[in-house]
Amino acid sequence: MYQDLAEKVAVVTGGSKGIGNAIARRLAAEKMAVVINYHSDKEGAEETVAELEKAGGKAVAVHADVGTEEGIQALLDAAVFKFGGLDLWVNNAGMENQVSTHELSLEDWNKVINVNLTGVFLGSKAAINHFLETGKKGNIINLSSVHEVIPWPTFAHYTASKGGVKMFTKTIAMEYAHKGIRVNAIAPGAIKTPINAEKFENPKEKETTLNMIPINSLGEPEDVAAAAAWLASTESKYVTGTSLFVDGGMSLYPSFEEGKG
Ligand code: BGC
Repeated sequence: MYQDLAEKVAVVTGGSKGIGNAIARRLAAEKMAVVINYHSDKEGAEETVAELEKAGGKAVAVHADVGTEEGIQALLDAAVFKFGGLDLWVNNAGMENQVSTHELSLEDWNKVINVNLTGVFLGSKAAINHFLETGKKGNIINLSSVHEVIPWPTFAHYTASKGGVKMFTKTIAMEYAHKGIRVNAIAPGAIKTPINAEKFENPKEKETTLNMIPINSLGEPEDVAAAAAWLASTESKYVTGTSLFVDGGMSLYPSFEEGKG
C-alpha cells in the first residue's frame, strides 16, 4: 500500500478489461477515485465500477473514445467535476490485430495508431494542461509493450504505435520535468488478458510463448498493476522518462540462454 495515493484521482483508459482493469482495481484498493472509460460495453464498465467501489475506491464509468478530443475531455471533466481534480492519468487503452504488412489496410493501420498512439497523445495533453493550470505535480503512465523494442512481424502497426509511445513518453518526460510532472511507460510482455486469451488457450502456442520467457510463465495483470501503483506513488519520485519492463525477461534476448550464440 502507498499511503500517498489515498483520496487522489486517477483516469485509467481501457479500465474495464485486462491490464487496465487490474490497474483500476489496484488504484481503488489504494483508496483512489478512479475514472474509467467504455466504448461499447456499458454493462461491463458498470460492473467494473461496482468492483472498484468494493475494492475500496470511488469510481465512475464514462462513455468515451480515447482517440478523440471530445472523449478525452469527457474523462477529464468526470475527474474534475465528480472527484474534484486529477492526479494521475493512465493511458492504457490499446488494441492489436495480426495481418501481414503488405495486406494491412489503411483503415486498420489508422485504427490501431489512433487508439494506441493518438489516444496516448490526447490523454497526456489533457492531463498536462490540467496539471499546468492547477500547478499540480501530476503523474502520467503510458502502457507500451515489449514491442516498443522487439520487432514483431505481422503486427507492424502495433509495433509502430508502441515504439511511438516509448519516444513520446521520454520526450514529454523531459519537456515537463521542470514542472514536477513525471511521465513513465510500462512495457508488459505476455500477460494473461482477453487480448491474447485465444492464443494461450492453444497449448502449442502457449508453449512456444513460454519458451520465449526466461521466467517461464505468463504474467498476471496484477503484476503490471503493481508496477503502475509504484510509478504512481512518491516511492518512485526520482523516476521519469523510463520504460519499466514487466515481462519475465522476454526482452532479454532469450535465444542466447545457455551461452549460445
Ligand atoms: C501483446 C501480446 C503479446 C505480448 C508478447 C503484447 O504487447 O499485447 O499479445 O503476447 O506483447 O509478444
